[in-house]
Amino acid sequence: MTLTGWVHRKREHGGVIFVIVRDPTGVIQVAGHREKASDAFEVMQKVTLESSIVVSGTIAVDKRAPTGIELKVSGFDVVNFANSEWPLEKDAGEGFLFDKRHLYLRSPSQTSIMQIKAGISRAAHQYFDSEGFTEIFPPVIVGASVEGGATLFPFKYFDQTAYLSQSAQLYEEAAICGLEKVYLLSPSFRAEKHRTRRHLTEYWHLEAEILFGTHDDIMGVEERLVHAMVMYVKDHFRHQLDVLKVRVRVPKLPFKRVSYDDAIEIAEKQGFKVPWGQDLGTEAERAVSKQFKDPFFITGYPTSARSFYHMPDPKRPEITLSSDLIAPGGYGELTSGGQRIHDLDLLLQRIKNEKLDPSAYDWYLELRKFGLPPHSGFGMGLERFLVWLLKLKHIREACLFPRTPSRLHP
Ligand code: 4AD
Ligand code: MG
Repeated sequence: MTLTGWVHRKREHGGVIFVIVRDPTGVIQVAGHREKASDAFEVMQKVTLESSIVVSGTIAVDKRAPTGIELKVSGFDVVNFANSEWPLEKDAGEGFLFDKRHLYLRSPSQTSIMQIKAGISRAAHQYFDSEGFTEIFPPVIVGASVEGGATLFPFKYFDQTAYLSQSAQLYEEAAICGLEKVYLLSPSFRAEKHRTRRHLTEYWHLEAEILFGTHDDIMGVEERLVHAMVMYVKDHFRHQLDVLKVRVRVPKLPFKRVSYDDAIEIAEKQGFKVPWGQDLGTEAERAVSKQFKDPFFITGYPTSARSFYHMPDPKRPEITLSSDLIAPGGYGELTSGGQRIHDLDLLLQRIKNEKLDPSAYDWYLELRKFGLPPHSGFGMGLERFLVWLLKLKHIREACLFPRTPSRLHP
């Protein structure tokens, strides 16, 4: 057989050179004998780490090889010789690994993460397709905020100011009037100044919106989606999960629903004081999430802690028909969602209360003048999901080339 790949490791032992060859499917040991294949042996002696190569030979079972099989080399050619010393030592620090992200991406762990990221995207597309959603392709250059002005990235757009999109939700709300159920996977941007393990300035946002859907309906969509994504990874990525040494737990449906009020009480029992009306905050949310084994919803966030578009609960207008899906074990928020305001006057009042400029939302308001029914939706950060699923230490590991306040290169 013939194999193309990279020189991952190399050692020589008593007239035999062992090269660990790496390709997208994993690693395999190839062995070249001085006596049996002298030409190949000579090339193997010279070849350096991370050179690209073509190897031919025969496969044999060998219990001593890392994967239990070995390729006995008959031919060994170098495609492109690596003529510098490979800089990624085993004990390289995290910061250095991300300075060298363009090289670090080749490692089996990073390859596995990227393969699984492609898998969760595929699973999401399949799920939405199976439930009759239409995929849409929203703009990324936008004229107004969705999630507050503090995290907007402004830039000059000819003689106007434009922003990078924080969420395509407002466009989804227009699209459902023709398409009824829509979803998208698109980059979103947040000028998050604080550096945390779960914030990026650019991330992949999976969002969906359903016409006539209630808050309960959208929580159903979210939990079925998460379940489908986890199942897909468990079924299709056994090798990658082994490489990453993670075991995936399939969450039980339906996910638990905990009210905001009860969540505050749980947090208080753990020693966190949350003033009613504010977001739980990272630490309190983490403490609450450690009480759960599977993702769970926190429902009924206060109107004061949510964006202008959230529908107040008619029975208790100080809270909204909204929820966050929280990952267990301290991994934090996976999604935010809920019902939107479809009444023109109420929406206008909320926009003014938030000190936003109504003229920036004229088209969004106009949807309410032309029979927009009640509707609901949510958004999930794909990288947040991956961090939880694969127990990654930092969200940057879930990105091909992460963007954070301190990282624009590579
Ligand atoms: O909670 P957020 O801000 O909600 C929205 O944008 C809604 N308009 C979505 C919708 O209803 N269509 O963001 C949604 C999700 C969060 O739950 C989180 O998973 C992710 O996006 N997210 C981030 N991921 C990485 N880095 C950041 N800075 C993120 N900010 C939000
Ligand atoms: Mg949120």
